[in-house]
Amino acid sequence: MNAVHEFARFKAEGRKISLVTAYDAWSARIVARSNVDAILVGDSAAMVIHGHPTTLAATVGLMAMHTRAVARAAGGKFVIADLPFLSFRKGIPAAMRAVGALVTSGAHAVKLEGVDGHEDVIRHIIGSGIPVMGHLGLTPQSVNRFGGFRVQGRAARDAATLLGQAHALEGLGCFSIVLECVPADLAARITAELSIPTIGIGAGCGTDGQVLVLQDLCGLDTSMSPRYVRRYCDGERLLTDALNQYDADVKQATFPGPEESYS
Ligand code: KIV
Repeated sequence: MNAVHEFARFKAEGRKISLVTAYDAWSARIVARSNVDAILVGDSAAMVIHGHPTTLAATVGLMAMHTRAVARAAGGKFVIADLPFLSFRKGIPAAMRAVGALVTSGAHAVKLEGVDGHEDVIRHIIGSGIPVMGHLGLTPQSVNRFGGFRVQGRAARDAATLLGQAHALEGLGCFSIVLECVPADLAARITAELSIPTIGIGAGCGTDGQVLVLQDLCGLDTSMSPRYVRRYCDGERLLTDALNQYDADVKQATFPGPEESYS
């Protein structure tokens, strides 16, 4: 799948787009067998996989490592990788080194947060032939400026700013925009005004698609429970039950049995 063309077609046809995060080959292989449209190697890896409280700890090296693992197992899925904190704010040469590291690791596109102050960088990346996904609203790399993980765009002035930023990203040539934690009516308005697809997370169902963190939707990480997450299975319970059954079998010497042993 080429998301740049397909995403545009899906929007034109009114077909919703599904994205999910993956950070490793094991989970990418599972996503590859699913109907989900594309994979995001999110810098949320810093939190979900490495246990940091925010995404600020993600580095280009870390994102490249996760992107390589995902790309090896992603099958034909389109892989988008996050440009981590500050990697695109140190001038065009540094930004292009970061982009190069992600693309040579197997990303088909990169995602970056915000627009103000890095318009030239976005233009340069796209001009170099690399598709860029924008990210507006609650951009987690700005969590300290926001004073926490808070819904963005509730006040009329903030909503107008977000709308303007979305138009700016479209004008710069982004192929899609993630809208994170913005009121549903604002996300629907942005979606209606843009010709490029919007992908929501905590932005209601009026966007062109949705993205969730795999561990959230599978109930594999219950340490945070944002309102916007829907759990499709109780992964933590399934794994805990399996581990406890394994522990009991080991302690009762019923594992391994003859079928799991060599003669
Ligand atoms: O890092 C991430 O997982 C993301 C999504 C939640 C949009 O940016």
